[in-house]
Amino acid sequence: MIDRIENMERRALEEIDQATDTAALEEVRIRYMGRSGQLTALLRGMGDMAPEDRPRTGQRVNLANRTVTDALATRQRALQDAAAVVERLDITLPGRRPSIGRKHPLTLIREEVVAIFGEMGFTVADGPEIERDYYNFEALNIPANHPARDTHDTFYMGGDRVLRTHTSPVQIRVMELYPPPVRVIAPGRTYRHENPDATHAFAFHQCEGLYVAQGVSMAHLKGDLTYFARRLFGKAVKVRFRPDFFPFTEPSVDYSFSCVVCNEKGCGICKGTGWLEISGAGMVDPAVFGFVGYDSEKYTGYAFGMGLDRLAMFKYGIESIHMFLENDLRFLSQG
Ligand code: PHE
Repeated sequence: MIDRIENMERRALEEIDQATDTAALEEVRIRYMGRSGQLTALLRGMGDMAPEDRPRTGQRVNLANRTVTDALATRQRALQDAAAVVERLDITLPGRRPSIGRKHPLTLIREEVVAIFGEMGFTVADGPEIERDYYNFEALNIPANHPARDTHDTFYMGGDRVLRTHTSPVQIRVMELYPPPVRVIAPGRTYRHENPDATHAFAFHQCEGLYVAQGVSMAHLKGDLTYFARRLFGKAVKVRFRPDFFPFTEPSVDYSFSCVVCNEKGCGICKGTGWLEISGAGMVDPAVFGFVGYDSEKYTGYAFGMGLDRLAMFKYGIESIHMFLENDLRFLSQG
């Protein structure tokens, strides 16, 4: 008798386990626990059993009854949960598109500038944005009270710290660290307290260039900047050099590229002049070599600046420098 009960229990548990939906499970329940179910019949038959067998067999039937009832309930819950998950997953909803980032226009232009000068043998140098007065001015031959300081609209940070107004201080840091020859560019962010307009913002980006070796001349400077202009804007671009003044170069020039937007006809971007002003350049002043301990009898060098924001504006046709700082995704997602 005990064997029969145990076999029935085992079969019931197996069938419960194999039921794959609630309807199949209900059939199993009816087969064992229904009004004419197999377990029900056994429970009913207890009365007819010999009195001496009743306690042991009765206990076993009751245990089987509880085991099967629990198994049915557990399986019922599991099947319902699974069904609920399937319902929650609405496969007709559109998917969620991941938003893919783009490179900032200033990153694109910087990478291109770095690549072109890289081909010409320049490596990239870096320096702090919070700079010492000495590197930003003194060692670039701009002593305290020199009138050239006025043009820099400097943010003074207290003590001898300033927000660097150009990337030229990186020249000094590189020459302090390495003996000649050096050939570096220094791209980075710079700051000036300027009245904002379409081409001026409190923060902008420059790329300094420095080449010091024996026999470097103005011809190298003109040749290298012209090569660069053609690589960036195409073969037709012309480069113009005009005399200028910077305390750290002698002689000094400002240089412009012919307007690639209107082909020199005159447009809004070149303000009708046909020329795009890029920055200043010149031969490193011997006084600067004095600050870093280079022998100016033996070595000469050229240096140039470059406004990266401007280059990006010309190259991508961006009309306001402020777009670079505003974090407007409609602008940034175009790259
Ligand atoms: N540092 C200068 C500026 O910001 C540009 C410059 C760099 C001029 C190197 C000459 C040589 O205006």
